[in-house]
Amino acid sequence: MTDVRAALKQGLALLREAHVPSFTLAAELLLLHVLGRDRTWLYAHPEEQVSSADAEVFFALIARRANGEPTQHLTGKQEFWGLEFEVSPDVLIPRPETEHLIEVALDRLAIGELRAGRKKTLTGEGLQIADIGTGSGCIAIALARELPGATIYATDISTAALAVARRNATRHSVSDRVHFRECNVLHALSDSPLATRHSSLLLDLIASNPPYIGRREAATLMREVRDHEPEVALYGGEEGYELYAGLVTQAAAHLKPGGILVLELGHNSLPAVQPLLDAPTWTNIAVTNDLAGIPRILAAERT
Ligand SMILES: C[S@@+](CC[C@H](N)C(=O)[O-])C[C@H]1O[C@@H](n2cnc3c(N)ncnc32)[C@H](O)[C@@H]1O
Repeated sequence: MTDVRAALKQGLALLREAHVPSFTLAAELLLLHVLGRDRTWLYAHPEEQVSSADAEVFFALIARRANGEPTQHLTGKQEFWGLEFEVSPDVLIPRPETEHLIEVALDRLAIGELRAGRKKTLTGEGLQIADIGTGSGCIAIALARELPGATIYATDISTAALAVARRNATRHSVSDRVHFRECNVLHALSDSPLATRHSSLLLDLIASNPPYIGRREAATLMREVRDHEPEVALYGGEEGYELYAGLVTQAAAHLKPGGILVLELGHNSLPAVQPLLDAPTWTNIAVTNDLAGIPRILAAERT
């Protein structure tokens, strides 16, 4: 038997020795996961006993974390947009910078509504939205939660990722409005029942956080990312930005006039991607930086 304070102290010392980034937070999250408690409880009960069985599980997780497995793979969850998402080695762990994509998408939709002289509360009534490369489903599901009147199509090339995304949609009660399709970029949308009725499915918004790391950068990645997150979610090609051209072409074909495209960018993708948004097809182009000052979100409107 040990107590909470001692277990935590020993756990974080082991992670620090193994040069794990944010080792205190990682040790806390793993202990909370094992004990089934929240953070407030942890600091209010430093003397609470930890059973031998719980301590054994905790130190086994600490050893795996010290060996490079991401904390989120050990706890099976990550928060995004205030919602808890199931994650596994089959999906990219949602990143905080992707929340900027949601902010930009919602801002653009709100501006569109105001321009059209409609109400100030954005419900997304009647909107058709696509999320390309949905992974855990975090973008599609966050948008579905924010826009209760919208229908969302979420695509991914990975069967295993889509299984996780579907469970997340059920967990957040949006599975009736988020339709998952296994396909390359947006190809399956041309075969959707809606598309056959109206010749093609025209969308109000397309959002995507595509794989954008260059294979030539692989050696510079943290081991947690390089060795544990799915390659198909990380690498966009040798340079990293190779998937954007096809994505922009398909977005131009699937967006309504006035429809919005919102893309997440890699740290050095902007010079390669911005020129793809040529006039006269695209207008109102804007770049949003993330908190580190990196150009992270590129948004544009279909003319
Ligand atoms: C960077 S991850 C983004 C996951 C999630 N949207 C997020 O923001 O956390 C990219 C996702 O795109 C998927 N993907 C890669 N190539 C694709 C393609 N050609 N068509 C559709 N999805 C693709 C990957 O399987 C992965 O789930």
